[in-house]
Amino acid sequence: MRMYDLIMKKRNGAALTAEEMQYMITEYVAGRIPDYQMSAFLMAVYFKGMSEEETLAMTQAVAHSGDMVDLSGIEGSKIDKHSTGGVGDKTTLIIAPIVAACGAKVAKMSGRGLGHTGGTVDKLESIPGMHTSLDEKKFFEIVNQTGLCVIGQSGNLAPADKKLYALRDVTATVDSIPLIAVSIMSKKLAAGNDGILLDVKTGSGAFMKTVEDSIALAKEMVSIGENAGKKTVALITDMDIPLGHNIGNSLEIIEAVETLKGKGPSDLTEVCLQLAANMLFLAHKGSLKECRNMAQHALDSGKALERLIAMVEAQGGDVSVIRDTGKFPRAPFAHPVFAKKTGYITSMNAESCGIASAMLGAGRETKESQLDYAAGIIINSKTGDYVKEGQIIATLHASDESLFAAAEKRYLEAIQIGDEKPEEKPLVYARVTKEDVEKLF
Ligand code: URA
Repeated sequence: MRMYDLIMKKRNGAALTAEEMQYMITEYVAGRIPDYQMSAFLMAVYFKGMSEEETLAMTQAVAHSGDMVDLSGIEGSKIDKHSTGGVGDKTTLIIAPIVAACGAKVAKMSGRGLGHTGGTVDKLESIPGMHTSLDEKKFFEIVNQTGLCVIGQSGNLAPADKKLYALRDVTATVDSIPLIAVSIMSKKLAAGNDGILLDVKTGSGAFMKTVEDSIALAKEMVSIGENAGKKTVALITDMDIPLGHNIGNSLEIIEAVETLKGKGPSDLTEVCLQLAANMLFLAHKGSLKECRNMAQHALDSGKALERLIAMVEAQGGDVSVIRDTGKFPRAPFAHPVFAKKTGYITSMNAESCGIASAMLGAGRETKESQLDYAAGIIINSKTGDYVKEGQIIATLHASDESLFAAAEKRYLEAIQIGDEKPEEKPLVYARVTKEDVEKLF
């Protein structure tokens, strides 16, 4: 087999076989196929796409390029959840405890922040003492004991994806739906769960800016999951506006805890209940309606909050800050942002809100950047709200006052104020299964 022939085959629009895909990925990871040939292949995929069988074959090959986690040491149904990334997206911290409280298991490997989006592992590490790097034995032990454990992704999970992603990043091939689907699903297949819930974000703060593209990506990922023998469902959820009110690592933990206490913002609570219900459905806990009721009960009864406390304790974290979020270390400086005029907030660019938070120290500029866990933004007014000139619409938090001017400018540029109240958008646009795309708006 020659890589040259495989590039030509793809360039001409034909589909590679599973054997050819396996050859290409194995040889690429071994360094016997150079980056320039793989770049040409990726660009050919960008223009010609891939068939369903081909996408599955590439995903399997990428998944098998590293460790395939075996979760059989954990009793019960293990359900994974993956978000395509957003701003203020702290859903894992709420859903995982809800699902565990209802009897399914969450053995989850999460990522760190990337660009304008936050990462669950960074958020968890803002809890003093919290360990997110655990060996397999401890990971299994905690899931069996508490029902859930969230750790960082193991170093050898789908190494081919790391190499391919770095190459896509510099060859203008990141925004290819089949390549995104392969990248995400290879890691999900390698993580070894029984069922997978995909939270595909859509809007200004998401990878996919339109509902149509988000549905197309969801359909590809659901088909890969199902064809690989995993029960897979996707929800298309809104990321045109940041989710909830808090952006930033410990600020998001605080909001997640408030939500688990039943005092969270209504958008965040509703999205979490729908995601949790779908995870419980994948765990065969009942009909979607029954699962929704179970999730609601886990919140109302405080059982989900107890699960989060148990997990934090088992992972070495200081549970006193969860019991009383007032004990979280706070940023020494706070800076109010005032509305520049009177009217309705007609739109917020969620990506810019995320960048403004990162500029305050909540995100990384380079891979080596140190995070300021207490930095971030508390949003008072969101799209659809009526504001008066001079009213505080958000508060910026940072450890260095000199960061406020640029972050405030970025934040204000993200907010549009007009005379007309904008139409309310749905929080969940669609539910995508193997059989169907159910539009929910
Ligand atoms: N997230 C991933 O893991 N891979 C992509 O290609 C895009 C988003």
